[in-house]
Amino acid sequence: MNDANDLKWDSKLNISTNVFDYMEEDYQNYGYDPTPYVVLEELVKLDLIKKEDTVVDYGCGKGRVSFFLNSQVGCKVMGIDHSERLLEMAKKNLEKYGKTDDITFIHSKAEEYVPGEANCFYLYNPFSTKIFRHVLKRIGESKENNPREILIFFYYSTIEYKTYLPTEPRIELIKTVTFGEETINDRVPAKLSVYRYK
Ligand SMILES: C[S@@+](CC[C@H](N)C(=O)[O-])C[C@H]1O[C@@H](n2cnc3c(N)ncnc32)[C@H](O)[C@@H]1O
Repeated sequence: MNDANDLKWDSKLNISTNVFDYMEEDYQNYGYDPTPYVVLEELVKLDLIKKEDTVVDYGCGKGRVSFFLNSQVGCKVMGIDHSERLLEMAKKNLEKYGKTDDITFIHSKAEEYVPGEANCFYLYNPFSTKIFRHVLKRIGESKENNPREILIFFYYSTIEYKTYLPTEPRIELIKTVTFGEETINDRVPAKLSVYRYK
């Protein structure tokens, strides 16, 4: 979906993130599709991510979330993706956006990545909930080693996450924004949900 707002923001940030890419998708690891900018605008309006925060985008693809949050909030962002090919595109975007030490792209499977200082985690339908359980375990271990307040942001429309998230005892829901057809130009409504790691 390339609506005018998505094209406008890509052009403003001097990056190319609009075209989806499912070449490396399998039944556990989903393909690339960027979060609509209108959703990222709402995410920033929630005012839960602050300049001094470090955000991890699990499954960053071409890096849209990193560039948007860094430009609008001023926070640090780490984009993690298992696809070397997509990360190359993210790195080209970083050259065009203007190199900064506040954006880092890392080639790793999310389930193998050990979060260090990060306190905010963003996911837009990157992988199955089975993989997410491993990711959550790593977040939990990281919180034990370095106690801090942790927020996890999910943008999703799938039944899989809709049914799983409310049953996951390690996290608690603190905020939800629902996006209807008219906003995201999609037949299936989607939610941006914010959870706190307990
Ligand atoms: C739906 S896209 C989301 C892109 C970006 N986060 C955004 O919101 O604009 C999902 C991304 O997750 C990546 N991905 C899938 N499985 C992964 C895994 N196990 N570890 C890391 N990245 C993964 C895909 O390559 C793809 O780029």
